[in-house]
Amino acid sequence: VHPTAARRPYPIVVQSEQTSYSDDFITAKFTNRGASVTVTDGQYLITPSFKQYEFQTARKVSKTGLMMVGWGGNNGSTLSATVLANRHNIVWHTKSGIQQPNYIGSMLRASTVRLGVDPSTGKDVFVPVADVLPMVHPNDLVFGGWDISGATLDQAMKRAEVLDWDLQRQVAPHMAALGKPLPSIYYPDFIAANQEARADNVIPGKDKQAHLERIRADIRRFKAENALDRVVIFWTANTERYSEIIPGVNDTADHLLASIKASHSEVSPSTVFAVAAILEGEPFVNGAPQNTFVPGVIELAERKKSFIGGDDLKSGQTKLKSVFAEFLVNAGIKPLSIASYNHLGNNDGHNLSAEPQFKSKEISKSSVVDDMVGANALLYKPPQEGPVKGTKAAKGEHPDHIVVIKYVPAVGDSKRAIDEYYSEIFCGGRSTINIFNECEDSLLATPLILDLTILTELLTRVKYRDVAGQQAEFSPLHPILSLLSYMLKAPLVKPGTDVINSLNRQRNALEAFLKACIGLEGSSDLLLETRLW
Ligand code: NAI
Repeated sequence: VHPTAARRPYPIVVQSEQTSYSDDFITAKFTNRGASVTVTDGQYLITPSFKQYEFQTARKVSKTGLMMVGWGGNNGSTLSATVLANRHNIVWHTKSGIQQPNYIGSMLRASTVRLGVDPSTGKDVFVPVADVLPMVHPNDLVFGGWDISGATLDQAMKRAEVLDWDLQRQVAPHMAALGKPLPSIYYPDFIAANQEARADNVIPGKDKQAHLERIRADIRRFKAENALDRVVIFWTANTERYSEIIPGVNDTADHLLASIKASHSEVSPSTVFAVAAILEGEPFVNGAPQNTFVPGVIELAERKKSFIGGDDLKSGQTKLKSVFAEFLVNAGIKPLSIASYNHLGNNDGHNLSAEPQFKSKEISKSSVVDDMVGANALLYKPPQEGPVKGTKAAKGEHPDHIVVIKYVPAVGDSKRAIDEYYSEIFCGGRSTINIFNECEDSLLATPLILDLTILTELLTRVKYRDVAGQQAEFSPLHPILSLLSYMLKAPLVKPGTDVINSLNRQRNALEAFLKACIGLEGSSDLLLETRLW
């Protein structure tokens, strides 16, 4: 039984002139406060700015399908099995007792937002993030997808060796009912040669235009057969090597479309999937580190106003780094080096043991401290202009940062991450902090895929208009969904804007945005009432 019907009604009412409700929409006015700053001769001239927007959120949650590319992998099979366990309320025995299914690790379903204070008790009131606006319940997602491996979903779950046997045993019939993934596009050059043995479910031929059309038809058929309003296409397949950016090939939307027609060798499978999703008007999220979003894809998404988000799930080591490096720099301590080692033994680790695929991951993991360093010119010399061009000084000071990944089959999905932070402290002192972090990789990644899918669906229902300006009609958000950054290692942002890596800032942005859509200010920790008489 698909429990779509038995969902709790949307629980929030904001009583204010800023917020109005109809059967179809929640509409809220919001003032975006900022400041413009001019710096002349060490003087800062600041002008506070105010801009009024109106947000309109469609209340009806779309019936949503999640089509995973790499459905038969560790993430894809673990996600399907755990959602099925939740949906069918399967409980299982472990050596420490009975385990209930849950959504721990989902920011939307297992973390809360502070709404305000209950005047009768003076205590803060919190709700799950997923209650702030109407959102899809993960149990209601309809699953589908592709894999170059033809294992059925129950076999794929067994192969992954992630879940307890008693859960596997009970969920296996439900997994078997999902059947096997659709055949996928396999261009051997893009993933490690060691993956060839599993490629027994591939779309024949080398004609990339035919592949694009086939994937588009798969999306359309899945949508129609399941009577869906929305399909999110999610890359959770192997990490590919980087695509070279070649003028005339993938630098513009038109060049890219022509290169697909010509079956150009630099067009990767993930780019073909992204283009298929964009042309179908369905959102595409990239959970792996490669540069799927070559400039031509970004231009096409903007042209078609079709949503994209990425790159690379931020589950373990990098998540910690985006908190820890910021903590050090914001405490006025200067990290001199960050040395990160990983070893893992799952198929992802096997694929990453090849140099070009490791390179994609290394790039994605490396940029995570850049914005924190750039925000503190007291600790790190900013880039110098003038005669130093091309030298280290021209790039600005930066901690030494290395990333190593090794494949150790014995540890399976249980990745080990070791990080050393070596920092300069007061008056020439040194501090060394080592962190050992054991990540059950797929169990950390699965809730992120769910959150990304659910947020993406929500963001397709939010529109805005500039109240004071000329903009009379509501428009959709910019196609690059940088609000997904919290769950992503190397966030893709609107061209020309800065990447925010800090986990706290990413969460604040998301919380503030969700609240703005119902006419509330973002959470302030000013708590003035606790500081005044
Ligand atoms: P996996 O190797 O178990 O699964 C990947 C699946 O993709 C395999 O079943 C493979 O057959 C399939 N595949 C490869 N090329 C394909 C293509 N062209 N079309 C369709 N299917 C294809 O890997 P896992 O652990 O599920 O991770 C998936 C991706 O997510 C990897 O790229 C990994 O780097 C990334 N990731 C995973 C994180 C985690 O914590 N598990 C964190 C960050 C990123």
